[in-house]
Amino acid sequence: MKSKLRFIDSELQKIRKNHLQRKLKYGITNGAIITIQKKNLINLCSNDYLGIPPIKMNLKQMESSSRLISGNDESYQILEKKLARHKSYEASLIFPTGYMTNLGVMPAIAKKGDLILSDELNHASIIESCKLTGAKVCIFKHNNMEDLYSKLKSNQKNKFIISEGVFSMDGDFSKLKEITDIATKTNAVTILDDAHGDFVVGKDGKGTGNYFGVSKKIDLYISSLSKGLGSFGGYVSSQKNIIDLCVNRSKAFIYTSALPSFLIENSLKRFESNRKKYQNNLQANKKLLVKGLKEIGYSINSKTHIVPIIIGDEKKTMEFGHYLLKNGIFVQPIRYPTVPKNKARLRISITGWLSHKNIENSLEVFDQAYKKFLKF
Ligand SMILES: Cc1ncc(COP(=O)(O)O)c(C=O)c1O
Repeated sequence: MKSKLRFIDSELQKIRKNHLQRKLKYGITNGAIITIQKKNLINLCSNDYLGIPPIKMNLKQMESSSRLISGNDESYQILEKKLARHKSYEASLIFPTGYMTNLGVMPAIAKKGDLILSDELNHASIIESCKLTGAKVCIFKHNNMEDLYSKLKSNQKNKFIISEGVFSMDGDFSKLKEITDIATKTNAVTILDDAHGDFVVGKDGKGTGNYFGVSKKIDLYISSLSKGLGSFGGYVSSQKNIIDLCVNRSKAFIYTSALPSFLIENSLKRFESNRKKYQNNLQANKKLLVKGLKEIGYSINSKTHIVPIIIGDEKKTMEFGHYLLKNGIFVQPIRYPTVPKNKARLRISITGWLSHKNIENSLEVFDQAYKKFLKF
């Protein structure tokens, strides 16, 4: 080992000591099943929520350039128009990922002298995007409207409130009705990252804004094409001048290669598939699994397809996850820094892929795990 890089080992040592080391697992995913080291496991941690079956793709060209140079295949225009209509906005802009959408949009619209209010449980990509703006960033307590309102009373130039629609690690909804009321009162711009609600909740999967009947009060809508839709990419929908500004200012849009057109066509086909049918499968699976977990004795508060089982202790959570794995269920333990310290959990995500038999089998293992780890 090179002596000048010895500090890397001590960094890794710190991570290991706190039971926070992450290791990559390699697997082959096929619908509800993931195969890891030749073992077939029921996949309860996929974000491919709707479970739309794979669509045959036309691999005409892999890559060309960034979208502002020669990578702007005409399929982008078709999908962006459809996404704008899906969200009832004037325009949309596709980025390579949801993460990059956040990194690109916030610094394009907010700057030094502005104020951003961000929920304390917002995703890492939102946190990083706010840092890039130069604006003052105030974190409000999770879904706490009094805290949000009190922190908004300031004379900063432009004010922004950013929240997730369905929180990725807790599965709870943001209080969108209250947030949009506060935004109206304080003249704040509302930004919703609905990566986990889009295509899943609301009429025709229009997302969390639609679910709460406040879509029109949300000014910018950020999402991922890689979760509910099961494709790849990210996008923002908003009024036309905001999209124009992003095209001109978003570094994460300008200075990177365009997604290959087959991925855009894949999103288009999935968007046009019978999404309603898959949405119904997902809702039925959610009801069945949550009912079973509650009957076993798990304390479940989530009203969505993201169902965390909060264990707390990192070591015990790892052991719990390992037990599930050994018994045919794949649920990744989630630890700090993705969630706060001592709030480690098994984050179950339910998909339309699961059959009733998959759910029954999973519940049998969860029953055993409950007796082993949680019943005293
Ligand atoms: C709330 C939220 N925003 C953005 C992202 C990033 O989306 P993508 O996976 O498309 O980069 C995630 C990913 O988990 C997320 O949970």
